[in-house]
Parts: sequence; structure tokens; C-alpha cells
Amino acid sequence: MIKKFLNLGKQPLANNYLTKNDLKRKKKQIFYTLEVGFNTSNKLVSITNTVSSKKMFANDYPYRSSMSKTIITSFKKLAKKIVNQYHPNLILEIGSNDGSFIKNFNKKKSICVEPCGDVAKTTKKLGYQTYSDFWNLKLARKIKKKNKNVDIVYSANTLSHILDLKSVFKSISYILSKNGILIIEDPSLLECLKKTSYDQFYNEHIYVFSLCGIKNFIKKFGFEVFKIETLNIHGGSLRFYIKRIKNKEIKINNSVKIQLKKELKFGLHKFSTYIKYKKKVEKSKKGLQRIFKMIKNQNNKIIGYGATAKSVTVLNYCGIKNDTIDYFMDTTPGKIGKYMPGTYIYIKGYKKTLIKKNKYCYLGAWNFKNEIFKKEKNFIKNGGKFITHVPFPRIIKN
Ligand code: SAH
Ligand code: TMP
Repeated sequence: MIKKFLNLGKQPLANNYLTKNDLKRKKKQIFYTLEVGFNTSNKLVSITNTVSSKKMFANDYPYRSSMSKTIITSFKKLAKKIVNQYHPNLILEIGSNDGSFIKNFNKKKSICVEPCGDVAKTTKKLGYQTYSDFWNLKLARKIKKKNKNVDIVYSANTLSHILDLKSVFKSISYILSKNGILIIEDPSLLECLKKTSYDQFYNEHIYVFSLCGIKNFIKKFGFEVFKIETLNIHGGSLRFYIKRIKNKEIKINNSVKIQLKKELKFGLHKFSTYIKYKKKVEKSKKGLQRIFKMIKNQNNKIIGYGATAKSVTVLNYCGIKNDTIDYFMDTTPGKIGKYMPGTYIYIKGYKKTLIKKNKYCYLGAWNFKNEIFKKEKNFIKNGGKFITHVPFPRIIKN
């Protein structure tokens, strides 16, 4: 049974950035009620009103993994580890986006799955075998017909975007070799709760995974987690290393026990934990609204840094619009010159001169705080202030 515990109000589709023409034409945006629930039987946490994948991941999907150095470095490091440890003859990536991960592998030994046509072009152009389609059994069959067995399936920040997890794991089991390994990486539910980062929830993030949820779910498909890595990426992620239960050659690493213990100690398996979380989220909303009000009352301008999908959840939930934040800055070509969905805040291309002109900056991309703080050390040195809601609303003291 799914028990709802959080209501983040009416929300637009997070990556549906609006053009000037959309505003002129008063284009009707799709809004949905963003509610989050806990499945008391399998312990998975998910949003309860979902939007079809075809609507979310179409040709104009703007997100590009390569916009962050942190991501590029992390992918490179993992790729090296995979090659050294597993020597795969064939690796398949689900949700390959602009190829930031797969670029680290030999073209002849890699397969990309990326449904957004415009993004998929990037890896196609580079010469990678790319399937511009959604991951499912039909596609797995098509790929298997043309290729040898897949030794590694890798998927970052994608499986949590797919409603039908049964189909996901069934298709992975179909394509993976007998001793093959599945590596998945997604934001961690434990970190999301600890950091009150409720903005991990939006239409694309259907699930926020925990070990205690995933482990139950994959058992039905003959899989088990044998190693867990905790990462700082995206505000705290989990990297699950998964094998077939039948494969006894690989031993279960102690990291699995450690993570499970942490999750159970925090209470991720109990509904009461989520009720406590809901209260923290409501408090966070009030705190952030107070900070914005105070800064505006002092006649100061506020800009946004990183027009993330996550900040769409925050701004719409807290009712912060273009009369509070003047504009956002972002490096993503597909977002520049557009407006934030629901709040109509304009997005300018990133320029160092722009940030220099301002004192207050809302950190939309709080998950890249270290990278951004390094880049903006002069802004901070000169008295510039970042505002964040993670782990609690505050003006960051430098
Ligand atoms: N793996 C990259 C991109 C994550 S964004 C990274 O970690 O940075 C999620 C990506 O998954 C998008 O490029 C999206 O188009 C793709 N995607 C969404 N649903 C999918 C599905 N059902 N099958 C395969 N890919 C999907
Ligand atoms: P994400 O949190 O969904 O990965 O999105 C990060 C967004 O932040 C993306 O639109 C790119 C943007 N960004 C910048 O504009 N400047 C930066 O320095 C970094 C790291 C990200």
C-alpha cells in the first residue's frame, strides 16, 4: 500500500522551460499535484502523480550531464575502475544523455540508450552505437539480436525516472550475461531526508532510492546488491553494484551491511519517519520565504545560480516568483534565454560580470556547491552571499 506523506502543491513539468513566444501566446503549461508516498510493502518512496515519459523526455529535453566538471570527473573515475576491475567486452548505458560517461569507453565495446533524439545525436555523431528509444524488453531484444552478451549495464540518474521498474529489471536481466554486473547510481533517500532536500522530488524523479527499497525489489528478478558506494554527487547519491544471486563468485561487501544499518537506524522502513520529514519540509518552506522577504525588504536584488529542475520544485512550492528573483544564470544552452516554468524567472547565460553586480544569489544548483564556490571565490571574497535551503534555509556564512 502506498501511503502519501508530502504534498508539494501544484507544479509545472520541471524541465519545461518557456520561450518568450510561449509567454506571449500564454501557452498553457501542464501542472500536476506533486505528492510523495511511501510503499509500506516494498519500502520504495515515489511521487504519486506521474507524467508520461514521452511528455518528459522529448526532442527538446535540455539537461546535459557535461555542464558540471564534478560529473565529468566522477564518470571518468568510475569508467577507469570498471575497466580495471571488470574488463568488459561490452557495456550498455541506459540514459546516456550527451555521452559524458560512455565517452570514456571504446566505441566498439559500448552501446548507448537515450530516448531524447537531440541528445542522442551527440553519441551517434561520435560513432557510438546509440538507440534513441526508451529502455524496455522490446528494445533489449532488438539490441541482443545485434550484439554479444552485455557484461556491464550502467545507468546513472535514469532508472529512478522510470515508473515501471518491473520492466526495467526484467529487461536488464534479459540482456546481461550470466556473470554480468549492473551498476546503478541515483540520489540517496537517506541524504534527501537528512538534508531536507525535498527538491529531489519532481516529475522526472519518480523514485528516490534507498538500499532497503531496492534490495527488496530486485530480489524478484534474481538480483542482489553486493557493494554500495556513497557519493557526494547530486547532493548525496548511492552507487549500487548488483549481481545475479546465482553468481556465487562475487562476495557481498561489508558496505551493504553498513548502509542498511544506517538506513534502518534512521527509520527509512517506517512511515512515522516520513511524517517527521513532512514537518521539516514545511518548516524549511517558511524559513526560506522569511529569508527572501527580509532581503527584499532591504531593497536588495536577488539572482539565482543554476536553473535546476530541483529549484523548480522549491520556487513553486514556496511561491517565489519573478518579483523576488530577478533572473537565473545557467550554463546550459537549452535553458538560456528561456523562463523558469511556473515562476517565469528569466534565465541568462552565465557570465562572471553578472554575478559581480549582485550581492545575493540563490543557489539553485546547491548540489554543486563546492564546484561553484571554487569558481565564485572572488564574489564571496567581495561580500557576495549565497542563499540555500539545504540542509536548512540560510544565507551561507563565508
Ligand atoms: N545519465 C546521465 C543523464 C541523467 S538525466 C547523468 O547521470 O548525468 C536522465 C536521462 O535518462 C535523460 O537523458 C533521459 O532522456 C533518459 N531517460 C529517461 N527515461 C528513460 C528511459 N525510459 N530509458 C532510457 N533513458 C531514459
Ligand atoms: P542538476 O542539478 O539537475 O544537475 O542541474 C545543474 C544545473 O546547474 C544545470 O542547469 C547547469 C547549472 N550549472 C551552472 O549553471 N553552473 C555551474 O557551475 C554548475 C556546476 C551547474
